[in-house]
Amino acid sequence: MKKALTVILILIMVSCRYNKEELPTPKNNSTPTPTYNGPVITYTNHTKKLFDNYCIACHAPGASVSFWPLTSYTEVSVYTNPGGKIQVRVLDQGNMPPTGSASGFLTPAEKDTLQMWLDQGAPQ
Ligand code: HEC
Repeated sequence: MKKALTVILILIMVSCRYNKEELPTPKNNSTPTPTYNGPVITYTNHTKKLFDNYCIACHAPGASVSFWPLTSYTEVSVYTNPGGKIQVRVLDQGNMPPTGSASGFLTPAEKDTLQMWLDQGAPQ
């Protein structure tokens, strides 16, 4: 009788083992992923003209800053990462275009457009 009880106990213990895969995934609500909810802004439809109007007088082949061109999506994309140089120089520090630039400066609305574009990952 004791033997049978021991066998049953061992069976219960063995049957209580579980695989890691069976464990529920812990829910972590402390750091929600930020989501962009604004309008869809693209390089082609919205920000290309800003670079053309305000940047390529200097940032283009044959111009003064030819080594950092901003004439295509590929060229601009070098600087569009979060915290990248377009964020810092144009929007945070506001020193691009530099003081005295003959091609003018972005309006507040144009800066908003640029910021929204960067915030959604600078799509083409
Ligand atoms: C009048 C000429 C001129 C215009 C217009 C101009 N830039 Fe510049 N830009 C420069 C010069 C010169 C430098 C290098 C010196 C410096 O970093 O301040 C530079 C540097 C930069 C850099 C740093 C690149 C690196 O790799 O460090 C970025 C980014 C930049 N400009 C973005 C822009 C953007 C975006 C515009 C348009 C909204 C713009 N610039 C308009 C002259 C200009």
